[in-house]
Amino acid sequence: MAGKKEQHVDPWTAEAAEGESSIDYNKLIEQFGSQRITDDLLDRIEKCTGKPLHSFLRRGVFFSHRELGLILDAYEKKQPFYLYTGRGPSSESMHLGHLIPFLFTKYLQDAFNVPLVIQLTDDEKFLWKDLKAEETHRLAYENAKDIIACGFDMNKTFIFSDIDYISSCTAFYYNIIKIQKCVTFSQARGIFGFQESDNIGKIAFPAIQAAPSFSNSFPHIFGEKTDIMCLIPCAIDQDPYFRMTRDAAPRLNYPKPALLHSIFFPALQGPKSKMSASDPNSSIFLTDTDEEIATKVNKYAFSGGRDTLEEHRKFGGDTKVDVSYQYLSFFLDDTEKLEKIKKDYESGTMLTGELKKELIVVLQKLVSDHRKRREAVTDEIVKQYMSPRPMNFD
Ligand code: TYM
Repeated sequence: MAGKKEQHVDPWTAEAAEGESSIDYNKLIEQFGSQRITDDLLDRIEKCTGKPLHSFLRRGVFFSHRELGLILDAYEKKQPFYLYTGRGPSSESMHLGHLIPFLFTKYLQDAFNVPLVIQLTDDEKFLWKDLKAEETHRLAYENAKDIIACGFDMNKTFIFSDIDYISSCTAFYYNIIKIQKCVTFSQARGIFGFQESDNIGKIAFPAIQAAPSFSNSFPHIFGEKTDIMCLIPCAIDQDPYFRMTRDAAPRLNYPKPALLHSIFFPALQGPKSKMSASDPNSSIFLTDTDEEIATKVNKYAFSGGRDTLEEHRKFGGDTKVDVSYQYLSFFLDDTEKLEKIKKDYESGTMLTGELKKELIVVLQKLVSDHRKRREAVTDEIVKQYMSPRPMNFD
């Protein structure tokens, strides 16, 4: 008899184990071999930056890391480091889940005042999806607008499309082929589960996501320096790429990148899977109108409420699986209000409809504020962020 299907998380899939209501993140830390972010580490970040912790750290949205301590050591010794994150442009607009790493990266850039590079993997999305290369390249520029709307410092941020940058920067391509040479097909298959039928572009791609972890991939920012440390904020689905990168680094005499991992912003259908652009019904997009947001939440947001009003009043709702509550825990700033909602919902005083109403207000404001900022991002502004240029870096 076949055993129970285990949970599965990789860059393309995030699924809870069969019969479980959500992804088990403790198990993931064990499987991936990363470290939990401890209270001591949180204190250290606060002390180091002299800024209040981001709510994503206080609330455990960013919950796991690799060698963050080394970055803090460097920062305390006034040694430089940089941030690296990215996006695979597969849809016209990004969704709420994609905002998580970008909002957090904005906080990190402000708190540490460091350079940031953002990779748009238009090549990856061409290789994986049924999309033309010219289309993913165009989507990269569309998505750049959503990213810029998060408010990154133009003087310290370089956004690039792989298709553009590979053909214009020799140093980047040198790093890519050096990484490709030190990872065998069998290692890549072990990490990413490639099949014989996969196209060969997919097999070579991980080196392209690895290369920005090394500072000499950006000569216009770091010159020929190879030893500037790199910190990568992302959801934990991207970790396989950076396990590979960290294995390759010492063989190339480069420092290993450090990582900060977030949990997933769940699909509307529940915390068994992540919000994903491949399934539009699972997602609220940053281009959705107020009406679309209200309809999606009312129609699809999985409820932890009871079957009948009577039962709900008696036993209360389950916030661990209730998507509306979970979304609020990401985006409702007011912690006291969030705690009150939790208490009221779990005790049955608050009903699912009332909870959804609270969420709709929060999301409509978040998305409409974002929309306004995105509308202000002109093609000229995109061009500036995406042109390789020197940065004040010391
Ligand atoms: P992509 O476009 O799938 O996702 C972009 C970023 O968003 C995170 N993410 C999520 N976070 C929380 N909840 C979700 N539901 C959710 N879905 C996606 C991803 O972890 C990622 O941080 N191959 C990458 C692009 C990339 C990259 C990087 C990402 C290139 N270099 C370096 C992070 C760091 C991709 O397709 O991401």
